[in-house]
Amino acid sequence: MNISGKARAHTNIALIKYWGKANEDLIIPMNNSLSVTLDKFYTETKVTFSPDYKKDTLILNGQEVSEEQSKKIYRFMDIVRERSQSSLHAHIESVNYVPTAAGLASSASAYAALAAACNEALDLNMSDKDLSRLARRGSGSASRSIFGGFAEWEKGIDDETSYAHSIESDGWEDDLSMIFVVINNQSKKVSSRSGMSHTRDTSRFYQYWLDHVDEDIASVKQAIKQKDFKHLGEVIEENGLRMHSTNLGAQPPFSYLVPESYEVMEIVHKCRKAGYPCYFTMDAGPNVKILVEKNNQQYIIDALLESFNEEQVIASDITHTGIEIME
Ligand code: DP6
Repeated sequence: MNISGKARAHTNIALIKYWGKANEDLIIPMNNSLSVTLDKFYTETKVTFSPDYKKDTLILNGQEVSEEQSKKIYRFMDIVRERSQSSLHAHIESVNYVPTAAGLASSASAYAALAAACNEALDLNMSDKDLSRLARRGSGSASRSIFGGFAEWEKGIDDETSYAHSIESDGWEDDLSMIFVVINNQSKKVSSRSGMSHTRDTSRFYQYWLDHVDEDIASVKQAIKQKDFKHLGEVIEENGLRMHSTNLGAQPPFSYLVPESYEVMEIVHKCRKAGYPCYFTMDAGPNVKILVEKNNQQYIIDALLESFNEEQVIASDITHTGIEIME
């Protein structure tokens, strides 16, 4: 008998970054992180378990993915089997809904959707907390994609205690949006996994990062409570830059940022000077994400379009919706 489940998960962008693991195998992070979940970018995944399948298979965006490329997913499926005490293999069909030009396939939405689809198919009745713990085993940032709005991933100390939860925000996220400036849509030269591990192990600035991230988390939570956009923005911009500077302190040093990333930062500065508050953040790649208040969104988009084309500038609302189970 075949059993299946299908789920949708949205991607999230960290405002306070996760950068470095305390445990590589269990994906326990060195620090708490905090994100917003985006409306426009998501993954839908259907998983079918059957005694007839001799191995797991993966179809991504309509194309079969080689065994070599799917290794991480198969390891994740082993964790699912262990948790559910099942020996069944699965056929996984996953579609990323991301504007084509963006090419921003996200492991966060991918593992959150896969965890939720497995939960549904195998009738595991997991709580959001347990789903977050499971998604975390695929990719750390996926732990936050179980939730809409603002979410915080508590680093915890072990598998039981490391999971995300949503943060009460009185619907403030409805007033905010995020603009993506796509500078490069190719896959990353240094994956976040290897970049953060190299930095944690070798960066002269890494301890400084750890020493200040809790303050940043506390400040952001305070800003959310007070709906203080300026305070929120200043903290997230500093936190993102500090994460990128840990990479410059690594031995050997490396950077994800390129000249166009700095050009976007300049435009953000100019918009602020002109009286339109907006703040940038960057992840393990050159693309820049800008947090704005919706009423100022168009001004900032117009400023960006003077230097970038329409395909490169994509705005998304922040969604309330966490994991959705689909028919
Ligand atoms: C810079 O979650 O992709 O986007 O746990 O190794 O799969 P793994 O890493 P991943 O790292 C995300 C890093 C980041 C910051 C963040 O999302 O918090």
